Amino acid sequence: MIAIEPRDPRTQSQGVEPGYEQTGKRWPSQALCRRPQTAAELAGPIAVERRLQPVRGDLAGHGAKRAIGQLIHLRTRVVDEDGAPVAGAVVEVWHCNAAGKYIHPNDTHDAPPDPNFYGAARLVADGEGLVELRTIKPGAYPVPDAGGWWRPPHVHFSVWGRVWLSRLVTQMFFPGEPLNEKDAILNAIRDPQARSSCIARLVPADNYLIYDYQLVVRGRKGAPAMP
Ligand SMILES: [Fe+2]
Repeated sequence: MIAIEPRDPRTQSQGVEPGYEQTGKRWPSQALCRRPQTAAELAGPIAVERRLQPVRGDLAGHGAKRAIGQLIHLRTRVVDEDGAPVAGAVVEVWHCNAAGKYIHPNDTHDAPPDPNFYGAARLVADGEGLVELRTIKPGAYPVPDAGGWWRPPHVHFSVWGRVWLSRLVTQMFFPGEPLNEKDAILNAIRDPQARSSCIARLVPADNYLIYDYQLVVRGRKGAPAMP
């Protein structure tokens, strides 16, 4: 049997963060304990990619339907603890528009919606573990009831494994954003190296700003959970 090295808690989110009230509602107040999954849970239904169909590999649109904002190409590689591609992983992605507004009734931010921007996609990793999304760079937005604190531009990710119970929800950040330094969610990860693994790498190309992001789904270098 292969022994799995436990993760260093400093590489994961601290969960409930002082100064960010909403984390108290999103994280358990007590330490997690491991509950082994039952045979029935692990047995099925499997092949999530057959049940969740991909939608929208392009959130930016074209011509008269083009979303407002800086065009970017987000190239995410889903890998396991050894850097091997996780082919077939179902990856859901969502982010706000260029003005920092989500299409969601709970978003009370006084920013304009963009009729040409929906903000969510579902993709399936190819044989190299790659998912590609053409989109616009999201804006920053203020956190409600949090004393003037603004979230930096970020993209939410949900990755499904082979079974429904296997799921990682995390966030990706953009390099060079001053708001990254103060973001309570990113800085709830105390280890600087683990924090930097949540920040994509800018690869300028002729027609796009390409952002490369490596999403490690498990192991000691696994992406921290960030709901
Ligand atoms: Fe967000």
